[in-house]
Amino acid sequence: MTTTATPVETLLKRTFVDFHQMEDFAQNPTIINRAEGLYYWDVNGKRYFDAIGGIFVAVLGHKHPRVMDALRRQLDRLTFAPPLHAISDVALEFIEKVGSVTPGALNYVKPFSGGSEAVESAFKFVRQYWKQSGHPGKYKFVSRYFGYHGATFGAMAASGTGTRKTKFEPHMAGFLKVPPPTYYRDRFSDWDECNRFCARLFEDVIVNEDPATVAAVIVEPIGNTGGIITPTAEYFRILRDICDRHNVLLIFDEIITGFGKTGSMFAAQTFGVTPDLMTVGKGISSGAVPLAAMIAREDLGEAFLGRPEADVQFMHGHTYAGNPFACAAGLAVIEEIERGRLWENAERVGGYLRAKLETLKRHGVIREVRGKGVLLGVELTNHEVGKALKRTALANGLIMRCDPGWFAVCPAIISTQADMDELFEMIEKSLVAAIEAARV
Ligand SMILES: Cc1ncc(COP(=O)(O)O)c(C=O)c1O
Repeated sequence: MTTTATPVETLLKRTFVDFHQMEDFAQNPTIINRAEGLYYWDVNGKRYFDAIGGIFVAVLGHKHPRVMDALRRQLDRLTFAPPLHAISDVALEFIEKVGSVTPGALNYVKPFSGGSEAVESAFKFVRQYWKQSGHPGKYKFVSRYFGYHGATFGAMAASGTGTRKTKFEPHMAGFLKVPPPTYYRDRFSDWDECNRFCARLFEDVIVNEDPATVAAVIVEPIGNTGGIITPTAEYFRILRDICDRHNVLLIFDEIITGFGKTGSMFAAQTFGVTPDLMTVGKGISSGAVPLAAMIAREDLGEAFLGRPEADVQFMHGHTYAGNPFACAAGLAVIEEIERGRLWENAERVGGYLRAKLETLKRHGVIREVRGKGVLLGVELTNHEVGKALKRTALANGLIMRCDPGWFAVCPAIISTQADMDELFEMIEKSLVAAIEAARV
């Protein structure tokens, strides 16, 4: 039970739960008050299996003891130092640690408080970089339909997600899109060929826009919105080559895919392609404290170094950027992932769960199971089932990402095989109930 003096229904009208109709939500609101490991509990004591790490966040599960210890230690020392007069020791340790686990020379690191902030910062960094590197005309960004890069204006302009975007038009100029590979797959008998075709669409846009005006391409290596869209490794190799030939920077938005989920620390390593910048967030603190980061090739960062009169410093800042408390959590999470080589566990238990999800095809409503490691999506052939699944899963105490056309799971990378058995049983039970509810 909640202990507020004002009735819950009244309070729910004074706020909103993201992307929900509050009248609908208020009829049977889920109000969480505790989490531990793979589970949430609501105010009525009901337990939920958190199959999506909150929302692709709790990679180590909730309240991991080593992360909690690191936070307690930091709490006694320093919880706030604005990144304006100084930088904290723990922020420097975090910057060093992040740079040590990223591929290539991606070790110019700026911590922020959330994914949208990191994406927004990357866009500004790229525009300023080109302005002071002899290519002031390069300002456009190319991304993908169905992609999601955040809720703020720049990140939203790069996103390609229906009403999350159209309700706020007009958007900023200079943001262009290509469709993701799933969009054209029915026109190709071969998935690899479809990926080659879709990767080359980036070149068509860049050439026709004039490469001298194109600053960067931004993609999620695996796209959540659209149903865990998982291109081939060759897709990324072609994209890398296109960007190199046209002097366009390549940004991987690894806010979902980072920190062990795909079988490597980052999806860039899973696909074997190194971008010029990365944005990371979500799993970086396993949900303990808001934290994200913009990461760039070290030599890109050098373009911002100079004497005061050169005026080349990055003209950008956020009050909570590099917050010491958040950096302590991030450090502890990365150390824990490294200590346990947890990306290997993600590959193992993710493969186990994936094989089980494939067996769900026997229910006749599944087109495809896709993803990497523990980041898995299941495409549904019947949207009524998809809509019902959101309700039946929650009723069964299961939290997943549900969309009419697909559902996604991303269990913690510390999960065991027994956890995956429990999860699969709940998924199947919820799916059967959804099929029944939709009367397929
Ligand atoms: C790929 C991707 N980029 C950026 C964001 C924005 O992150 P945040 O919600 O922390 O602002 C999200 C959030 O879901 C995301 O999935």
